[in-house]
Amino acid sequence: MSFISVNKLWKEYGDQVVLENLNLEVEQGEFCTLVGASGCGKSTFLKMLLGQESQSRGELLLEGETFPAEPDRNRGIVFQRYSVFPHLTVRQNVLMGLELEQKPVLGKLFGSARSEALKKVDDMLELVGLGPSANKWPHELSGGMQQRLAIAQSLIMRPRVLLLDEPFGALDPGIRKDMHELLLQLWREIGITIFMVTHDLHEGFYLGTRLLVFDKLRNDPHAPNAFGATITYDLPIGQTDERLLRDIDQSVTNTARYQAA
Ligand SMILES: Nc1ncnc2c1ncn2[C@@H]1O[C@H](COP(=O)(O)OP(=O)(O)O)[C@@H](O)[C@H]1O
Ligand SMILES: [Mg+2]
Repeated sequence: MSFISVNKLWKEYGDQVVLENLNLEVEQGEFCTLVGASGCGKSTFLKMLLGQESQSRGELLLEGETFPAEPDRNRGIVFQRYSVFPHLTVRQNVLMGLELEQKPVLGKLFGSARSEALKKVDDMLELVGLGPSANKWPHELSGGMQQRLAIAQSLIMRPRVLLLDEPFGALDPGIRKDMHELLLQLWREIGITIFMVTHDLHEGFYLGTRLLVFDKLRNDPHAPNAFGATITYDLPIGQTDERLLRDIDQSVTNTARYQAA
């Protein structure tokens, strides 16, 4: 039994088929990078993995069980745009998840429970390189530091699956490189399973152990909504040649198939 199984999964919005017949088996600790033209349904797939969207048909299994239909601590997500709370300090932002989990009503921890939680928070901030910024406000942080904070916020809940939706898309190249090293370090240390959407094929190749390409197998220009995207390539990284790369590059940049005529 795989860690995650996707069986004949479909997603439709009204009469628009977004994803059709996805099939995928993922083992624990894999780092899947997802590429595909804008609008082909990558974020929709992540939202289904998160439990924020439900499928129209098919199965999504975590260790053989139906995925929890609501987001829960099994899964954490980081978006391209910062998802941190502006009115909380860096430390409070990371602490909040633990507080809400342990004290859903008051959202506050006291005494030894609070000191234990704070210790975890500070260890996590060290891990992502935000130790010295624990008392800062989000607006005092650079874009890269805000994304470190968003990652810390997710990881503090010890999710088994980390979902990343173009998390570094808004960052400058130099900062992005630092974030790559951080992410690889976290992935190796924690052994977490990652799904990461990127529009940068090279980033996908550099970070992942497996590349998933989303594209349409069938397309009718007169009925752009009739067919959805599926996984057209599922490649173990390290075993690809130049020609294949060019093919994939084409399908990633071909947005025409995802726009109404
Ligand atoms: N909540 C929604 N309701 C209706 N259509 C949606 C919704 N979310 C996404 N879509 C449509 O699904 C398609 C895929 O969107 P998305 O998953 O965001 O693509 P990607 O992340 O690959 O750019 C788009 O045509 C988008 O307009
Ligand atoms: Mg998207």
